[in-house]
Amino acid sequence: MTAAELVTSPTKKNAVLENLLAFHRSIRASLSVFDETASLASAGLVDVIKTAALYDFFCGPMRWHDDDESKSLLPRLLRLRRSLQVAIEACGAEHSKMDVAVAAVLFHLRELSFAGAAPDAELLRSAAWELRRVLEPHLQREEKEIFPAAFELLSPGELEEMAIEVHCRRLRRFTQKESPP
Ligand SMILES: [Fe+2]
Ligand SMILES: [Fe+2]
Repeated sequence: MTAAELVTSPTKKNAVLENLLAFHRSIRASLSVFDETASLASAGLVDVIKTAALYDFFCGPMRWHDDDESKSLLPRLLRLRRSLQVAIEACGAEHSKMDVAVAAVLFHLRELSFAGAAPDAELLRSAAWELRRVLEPHLQREEKEIFPAAFELLSPGELEEMAIEVHCRRLRRFTQKESPP
C-alpha cells in the first residue's frame, strides 16, 4: 500500500477539506464551553472535567487545525486564485490573534484543571470574549470564502498531496508525542 492509498479515501478526494470544515463544529462548541467556564468562575466554581477538555482542545486539536490550514490549504489557494489574497492574509492574522488570546489563558486553564487553582473570573471572561470576537468572523470568512474556493479549485492531485501532508503531521505528532506549550 502506498502512502497515498494509506491516507486518502479512494472514492472521496475532498475528504481532507470536509474534515477541516467539520472541525468548525468543535470550535464553536469550545466557545460555548469557554463561556460556561467563565460564567461558573464568576460564581467561584470550576468544572474540572470541562476545563481540562478545554485545555486539551486549545493545546492540541485547535492548533493542529490552524496548522493544517496555514501550511497545506491557504498557500495552495493563494497560488490558484490571487484575488483571495486579502481573505487569506486575514485568515493568517486571525490565526495569530487566536494564538495570542489562547496563550494569555492557557496556563490558568492548566492550573484550574490539574492543580486545584482558584478561578480568575476576569481572566476567563476576557479570554472567552476575545476568542469569540476573533473566531466567529474567522469561521465565517473561511466558510464563505476559503472553503468554497477550495472545493472549486483544488484538483484531485492537490487534494491528495494535501491529505498526505495533514496525515504526515499527525504521524509526526504521534511518534514524537508533541508536548503541550
Ligand atoms: Fe482557520
Ligand atoms: Fe478553520
